[in-house]
Amino acid sequence: MKTDVANRYIWFKQEILNVNDAKINVLAPTSQFGLNVFEGIPCYWNETQQQLYAFRLADHYKRLAKSAKLLQLDCKYTKEDFEKALVDVVRANEYTENVSVRQTLFVDGFGSWGSDGPVEMFVAPIPRGNTSAEYNKQGLNCCVASWRRISDNTLSPRIKCGANYINSRMGQREALRNGYDTCIFLNEAGKVAEGPGSCLFLVKDGRLITPQLTDSVLESITRDTVIKLAEELGIEVQERSVDRTELYASDEAFLCGSAMEITPILSIDRYKYEYSEESLTSKLLAKYRSVVSGRDSKYQGWLTPIYK
Ligand SMILES: Cc1ncc(COP(=O)(O)O)c(C=O)c1O
Repeated sequence: MKTDVANRYIWFKQEILNVNDAKINVLAPTSQFGLNVFEGIPCYWNETQQQLYAFRLADHYKRLAKSAKLLQLDCKYTKEDFEKALVDVVRANEYTENVSVRQTLFVDGFGSWGSDGPVEMFVAPIPRGNTSAEYNKQGLNCCVASWRRISDNTLSPRIKCGANYINSRMGQREALRNGYDTCIFLNEAGKVAEGPGSCLFLVKDGRLITPQLTDSVLESITRDTVIKLAEELGIEVQERSVDRTELYASDEAFLCGSAMEITPILSIDRYKYEYSEESLTSKLLAKYRSVVSGRDSKYQGWLTPIYK
C-alpha cells in the first residue's frame, strides 16, 4: 500500500519499518559525534516506461565504501547488500514519482568517536518535493561565505560524512541570515571550492569552468555527469583553481548535485548572471533530465531499474 511521507517505510538494521519506529540510541557515536557516512541517491520516475530508475548507483556505492574505508569503519555490509536494501525499501513504499534516497552507514552501540563499530545501516527514501528548500528552487541568489570550506588536512571534503555538514551549515545559515538562498565557499587558499551541498560550475565565453577536485570539493557524481554530458555536447570543460573575481566575471553559473540537479545561479554577492532558455545552463539541464529519467538510450548503463 502507498505510504504518506510521515509514515513512509525505512530500511533499518535489516528490517523494513515505519520511519517512526526506527530508533537510534542517544549515546551511539552517530548521535554524539555525527559518526556516519552517507549518500543521497536520486531516483527518477519514467511515466512512459512505468519504471523508477536509480541514477549511477554503482558510483554512489563506490563512494560510500570509500568514505567508510577512509574513516576506518568496520562495515559488514557489501555493495550487493547496499543495493538490495535500497530496492526493497523503495518497492515497499511503491513510489511512482521522483525520490531521493538517503543511505547511511552509522556507528551504533555505546562507543566513542574513535570506535570502528558496530556499523549499522539505514536506507530512507523521500519524495523529491519534500527535500530542503534550497534543493527545490528554480534559481539561486548566493553569497560567498565568510567561512572557509574544510580542507583535506583537517576534515576532508572527499569523505561524505555527517560531521562535514557542520561546516556546510555555518555557510548556509550565514547565507539565509543575510537574505540569500545559499552560499559558495572558498577553500583555505582563498580559491573557489563548492556550495554547502553541491558543486559549482561557471560559464565563460562558451566554456565550462569548475574547481578541481583537490581544491576542497566533494568528488561529486553530478559534477562528473555534467563534465561527461558537456563533452558529448561539444562544450569545453576546464577543471582548475578558480579565483573569487572569476565568479563575478563569468556569464553564467550553476550549482549541481544529486539533490540540486543543475540549478542556475541568478546572482553571487548581488553580481547578476544571464539565464534564459538559450543559455548553456538550460541546455545542460535539459540533457541531464533526459539522461536521468531514461529518455536517452546512450546512458542506460547509469540507470538501475527498481521495479521488475
Ligand atoms: C558538499 C557537497 N558537494 C557536492 C555535492 C554533490 O555531490 P553529488 O553530485 O555526488 O550528489 C554534495 C552532495 O552530496 C555535497 O554535499
